[in-house]
Amino acid sequence: MKPLLTEIDHVAIAVNDLDAAIAWYEEVFGAIVVHREVVESDGVSEALIKVADSYIQLLTPTRPDSPVAKYLEKKGEGLHHVGYRVNDCEAALASVKAYGGRLIDEAPRPGSRGTMVAFVHPKTSFGTLIELVQDSH
Ligand code: CO
Repeated sequence: MKPLLTEIDHVAIAVNDLDAAIAWYEEVFGAIVVHREVVESDGVSEALIKVADSYIQLLTPTRPDSPVAKYLEKKGEGLHHVGYRVNDCEAALASVKAYGGRLIDEAPRPGSRGTMVAFVHPKTSFGTLIELVQDSH
C-alpha cells in the first residue's frame, strides 16, 4: 500500500487566550505567525506558526457552542488534534472507513488556508483526533 500520509501538516493546541499564546510562542521561541483566520463553520479563531514545512496551530473558540469551547471546558488547554497532510483526502477517509474507523466528517469539507479537510474520531484512532488535510495549492 502506498503511504496515504505525506507530512505532518499541523499540531493543534487549544488555548483560552489566543493573543497570550501567540505572545508566549513569539517571546519564548521567536515563533513567527504566518496566518490568522476565523473559521466560522468550526467556531474557531486560529493562528498558524510555521515550523519548517509544518505548523503549530493555536486554536481558540469564537462561540460557546464550538467544539473547541466544549473541549476546553472538559479537558482544559492542550493538544487538541494532529493534522496529517494527504494527497487525496477522500481516499484516506475511505481507508479509515474500510477499516471500521469512525469518521466525524463523511466527506472532505473546506478548512482554513483553502484546504480540504476531514476529521477522524479519536475513539477508533487510539485517542487522537486526526484531521486529514489536503492542500490543493
Ligand atoms: Co486543524
